[in-house]
Amino acid sequence: MLFPDYRPRRMRRNETIRRMVRETRLHVDDLILPLFAIEGKDIKNAIPSMPGHFQLSIDQLIKAAEQAHALGIPAIILFGIPSRKDPLGTQAYAKDGIVQRAVQAVKAKIPDLMVITDVCLCEYTDHGHCGVVEGQTIDNDASLDLLARTALSHAKAGADMVAPSDMMDGRVTEIRAALDEANFSHIPIMSYAAKYCSAYYGPFREAAQSAPRFGDRRTYQMDPANAREALREVSMDVEEGADIIMIKPALPYLDIICRIKDEFDLPVAAYNVSGEYAMIKAAAEKGWLDGQKAMLETLTAIKRAGADMILTYFAVEAARALND
Ligand code: PBG
Ligand code: ZN
Repeated sequence: MLFPDYRPRRMRRNETIRRMVRETRLHVDDLILPLFAIEGKDIKNAIPSMPGHFQLSIDQLIKAAEQAHALGIPAIILFGIPSRKDPLGTQAYAKDGIVQRAVQAVKAKIPDLMVITDVCLCEYTDHGHCGVVEGQTIDNDASLDLLARTALSHAKAGADMVAPSDMMDGRVTEIRAALDEANFSHIPIMSYAAKYCSAYYGPFREAAQSAPRFGDRRTYQMDPANAREALREVSMDVEEGADIIMIKPALPYLDIICRIKDEFDLPVAAYNVSGEYAMIKAAAEKGWLDGQKAMLETLTAIKRAGADMILTYFAVEAARALND
């Protein structure tokens, strides 16, 4: 395969041949749309750092879900912004909590749309941490029961899948046991298995009002410098019963996606997070790059690295581009 006998450009001469040899194909089936539910009626609060995204009251959220469904997007993932927060995040597992009611409403209206719920405490705790705070530290084991209760309350509300994002050790075991015991053995767990402590979550924390009030998340989320540790984190979640393993963020961690895809046989999800979205949107707004091209290139790259599915704020835009 040497020049001049072999000429790679022969396979790039026109779009038809490029289509024929294309190795990675982004599809609407790959997309999962995150949505933010807030209390109230007829509310659509713009999130400035995430153009095109809103805090939505349930009536508005249903419209967004219907739009996604009509475009062929198979799934949404729900986050909640409760009206009150307390040290134990009780609204996270309240029967009539914001996410529980949003799930119920969406499933009643659009039964075919897969509704995944993010299981965490940070949006519901007054301190903004993903677990129970003891003094200045986050108590791992004390958090597990609350996370399991949260997951179970989502399943009871009709969630099709739960996605724990807290990064406490042992939470998949605890959630699986709680679901199985209550006859929800058919509900899969998509675990945020390798979740890094990332600056790219900034816009999300504005959207979900979930920034920690003291300290940071470095004692539970992973150090961005570590790759082998991600393999250990994932293998633990696999052993504990995860059905889908997620890597988050996506674009700065393509090497991790690739290694995990090679090592494990479970479906791999990647979360193209809020900061990744904001960067492209901001640059496109300034006219510094072509937003649509950057979006499709990014999502294709995440899939090429090994993601079977992508959680992305671009889901609607990408679905439109792909359906064109
Ligand atoms: C909650 C959670 C976060 C994200 C998803 N679930 C924020 C965090 O861990 O601080 C981030 C999503 C995004 O940035 O798009 N634990
Ligand atoms: Zn959290």
